[in-house]
Formats: sequence, C-alpha cells, structure tokens
Amino acid sequence: MKTFERIDFKQADCALAVDSILGMVEVARGAGEPWALSWTPKLLREEIQEAELYGVRSAESRELQGFVLLRFRAERAEITLVAVFPSARGLGVLDHLVSECAALSSGIDLEVRADNVPAIQAYERNGFQAVGRRPRYYADGVDAVLYSRG
Ligand SMILES: CC(C)(COP(=O)(O)OP(=O)(O)OC[C@H]1O[C@@H](n2cnc3c(N)ncnc32)[C@H](O)[C@@H]1OP(=O)(O)O)[C@@H](O)C(=O)NCCC(=O)NCCS
Repeated sequence: MKTFERIDFKQADCALAVDSILGMVEVARGAGEPWALSWTPKLLREEIQEAELYGVRSAESRELQGFVLLRFRAERAEITLVAVFPSARGLGVLDHLVSECAALSSGIDLEVRADNVPAIQAYERNGFQAVGRRPRYYADGVDAVLYSRG
C-alpha cells in the first residue's frame, strides 16, 4: 500500500516542486486537457505566489504526487486548482489533499467543469455536494458546477 505525506513547501526543494507543477500543467495544457487550458505558465506562477500551496508526496519515493492551491475567505477555503500527477491518479491522492484542506478550514468550495468525470467522482466520494451551476461558464461552452463541503 502506498502512503502519502504532506510536503513542506518552505523546505529547500520548494523550487524543484514548483517547477514540476509548472511542467505537469504545461504538458496537460499542450495536450489540450480541458482543465489545464486556462492555466498559462504566467497565470499559474501568479497563483502559486498569491494562493496557499499544499502538496502530498509518496512516503516511499518522496516524489510529489499532487498539489492544491487554496484561497481563504473568512473561515472557508476555495480550491482554485487541484491536480494529481498522471502516474499517481486513481490511487486516492485527492483524498489526502482534501483532508489537508479540511484540516485548515471550516469548509471548502470549488468549481469544476461539468464534463470532468474523474474529478466529480472523487469530490462526491469526499463528501462534496453540488450547490450551483454556471451555464456555459467555460470558453468552450461547458457549464461550471459549484461544489461545497462542510
Ligand atoms: C481529478 C483528480 C484530481 C483526481 O485525483 P485522484 O487522486 O486520481 O482521485 P481518485 O484516486 O479518487 O480517482 C478519481 C477517479 O479518477 C478515475 N481514475 C482512476 N484511475 C485513473 C487513472 N489512472 N487516470 C485517470 N483517472 C483515473 C476514476 O474514475 C476515479 O474514480 P473512482 O475511484 O470512483 O473510480 C485527478 O484525476 C487529476 O489531477 N486530474 C487532472 C486535473 C483536474 O482535473 N483537476 C480538477 C480541476 S477542478
């Protein structure tokens, strides 16, 4: 069984971890993955500067497996981006990221493309409930679904 642990981004390997995040998102954007399309390197760098960044890594290999960017409003946390590295998907890394967010806030909000089935399945399994919808929110006409937990 794989075990995961939280990454301390204040450690010296922070720049490497940030580079791997930028690289992973840029590969996804280049491949046309819808979730990544709006995350240009410039926008992502700015979000990493301005939001709170948390990650989990494999306890065995110490490699970064996934990350979440959070904005805090009052007591609640808004997830502005969450992603798991392709090689670690389907292993429950998102569960660990959500636990980190839950420990830091009294509730979590996010929005997701209505066609992002893996993300929606993982959010619902983690106790998120759909609370609203923004019709044709994304540039390609897909709705945004608003999810909340706590
Ligand atoms: C959405 C995402 C964060 C889920 O993270 P995860 O740690 O893989 O989540 P889980 O392990 O709970 O798997 C979630 C679902 O992914 C699907 N999945 C399983 N294996 C997979 C794989 N190898 N590759 C892709 N998806 C897989 C399954 O449908 C699974 O649902 P199930 O467990 O109910 O069958 C991850 O797929 C990801 O990073 N996607 C790209 C970024 C993204 O879409 N972010 C959300 C933006 S709002």
